[in-house]
Amino acid sequence: MSLKKLEVTYRPFDRVTRVPPGTTLFSAAHWIGLPIDSTCGGRGTCGKCKVQVLDGGLEVSSADRKELREAEIGSGWRLSCQSRVYQDTVCLVPELQRVPRAATMGVNRLVLLDPNVRKVYVELAEPSLEDQRGDVERLQDALTAEGFDMKAGLAALATLPGTLRGCGFKVTAVLGGDQLIAVEPGDTRDACYGVAFDVGTTTVVGTLMNLRTGMAEAVRSTLNGQAPFGADVISRISHAMAGSAALVELQAAVRQSMNGILGELYTEAGVAREQVYEAVVVGNATMLHLLLGIDPTPISMVPFTPAFHGPLDLEARDAGLEIHRNGRVQTLPLIGAYVGADIVSGLIATGLGREDRLRLFVDVGTNGEIVLGSSRRILATAAPAGPAFEGSQIACGMRATEGAIEGVTLSDRVELQVIGGDVRPRGICGSGLVDTVAQLRLCGLLDASGRMRSKDEAPEHPLSDRLITVDGVRAFLLAEDVYLSQRDVRELQFGKGSIASGIKVLMDELGVTPGEIEEVLLGGSFGSYLNPESARVIGLVPPVDVDRILSVGNTAGEGAKMTLLSFRERQVAFELPDQVEYVELSARADFNESFLAVLQFPELGDL
Ligand code: FES
Repeated sequence: MSLKKLEVTYRPFDRVTRVPPGTTLFSAAHWIGLPIDSTCGGRGTCGKCKVQVLDGGLEVSSADRKELREAEIGSGWRLSCQSRVYQDTVCLVPELQRVPRAATMGVNRLVLLDPNVRKVYVELAEPSLEDQRGDVERLQDALTAEGFDMKAGLAALATLPGTLRGCGFKVTAVLGGDQLIAVEPGDTRDACYGVAFDVGTTTVVGTLMNLRTGMAEAVRSTLNGQAPFGADVISRISHAMAGSAALVELQAAVRQSMNGILGELYTEAGVAREQVYEAVVVGNATMLHLLLGIDPTPISMVPFTPAFHGPLDLEARDAGLEIHRNGRVQTLPLIGAYVGADIVSGLIATGLGREDRLRLFVDVGTNGEIVLGSSRRILATAAPAGPAFEGSQIACGMRATEGAIEGVTLSDRVELQVIGGDVRPRGICGSGLVDTVAQLRLCGLLDASGRMRSKDEAPEHPLSDRLITVDGVRAFLLAEDVYLSQRDVRELQFGKGSIASGIKVLMDELGVTPGEIEEVLLGGSFGSYLNPESARVIGLVPPVDVDRILSVGNTAGEGAKMTLLSFRERQVAFELPDQVEYVELSARADFNESFLAVLQFPELGDL
């Protein structure tokens, strides 16, 4: 799929961006981090986002007619949130009326604090025989005067008469987008919270965010309660295939994990459940399906189609999350069955594709998600990497918990970094595995084909005593009862080969060489702990300077927080699937060819 992009130029800054047809001038500006004023969240009701179109389409929207004067419309002024681009456009952005509050989040991204949840304090005229408007119309009129549209569902309406009359009609309306979530007596604007959830296959992380200040009030993580049903998405899907009771079981397990986290967040931050109005939830496609009780089976079968790709805006009670009883839950969209909302969130956190710089983002796990691109073109794919990076199928493999060897340095001796500090090493986790293999390569005990030398072959080597055999298989002893076997090296070669060939396919498709990649970003719960040098030595990532390989942490969680705090970032996330071209590896002959080519480790002289 190729998308013809259109060029939008913003004066007086002379900032240029390329966007797909149909993108609004408002969103396109935010895509490159250019703030345009707004208080309505781009809904066409505040009139603050006007720009003057100097060259390009000049269609007039009904919101333009409502918010702008006839003379303004005549001289090309339009509401940027309603003006869609269908040709190259040049426009003039007026000086900001207010300096928006901003915070640095993700990978050095400046995020404007403009949450989807807004609290508006209004003092309503009390009803009289001369003014018999209904309560909801009274509230609606007051909000319209402040520049907000509002729709009220039955749940919010039910308590409205009592609330208004109990506090002399001085209330705070809580809006999630244009949905009325609550009407609270008096001025409660100081207490406004939301929660960002990263639902990983292994771990669930929740962060309670103060939507007024942009600060994180508390963070909690726990193992995904679905763990007993299998370690990876395929085994979870297999369990779900057992029938509707199994699906309910999986849904209940993850809900319980998330609600457990919520309870702890409320206690730690001293925040009441009723003050938390929205949750943004990201995760891979399977995790989102299971959380919502949707059959994920088609994800695992050719042609790999999820039940939904788009973002979902749900009632918290339908999603089973214990936030405000009328609260909202927002999921981010998927790019493909195996490039999910967690990766969309990662792209928000890294800003990949919003700059001219060519960057590569790799989330390493049982599934390696890969995104390569710049503002010109972005490609994404998923490569099956097997369980080695998670430490399973490895003789002494374990998850990254206390006692796991997470870092290794080999010289004339063995130096180990063990999770928990001064504790007995019990096994090797993924990052320790990658380090060990890289170090064995560097100290000459592993050749480029992945073959480990035996004690007889390297009698003079200072670490030759560590070269052992276990059940007839060559191995390297790291600590008492903890070793890395020749078979483990092969497992890792398979995993890294798959990811490296996925990267190669994308590079070939874009026609770029390693030298053109300005940054390699390693993300995800495993990738962030990888030693960049080791990733390069084993050939997991292309041979770029090591200082251009960055560990970027839990980008899925960061992106969820950013889209909770900024409706503009959320809009960008919604548009990302249209910007990114998904490459299905299983449909490509060159994947197998490059897989065989990159199974070997790189020659050390090539690094
Ligand atoms: S009218 Fe409010 S952002 Fe456009």
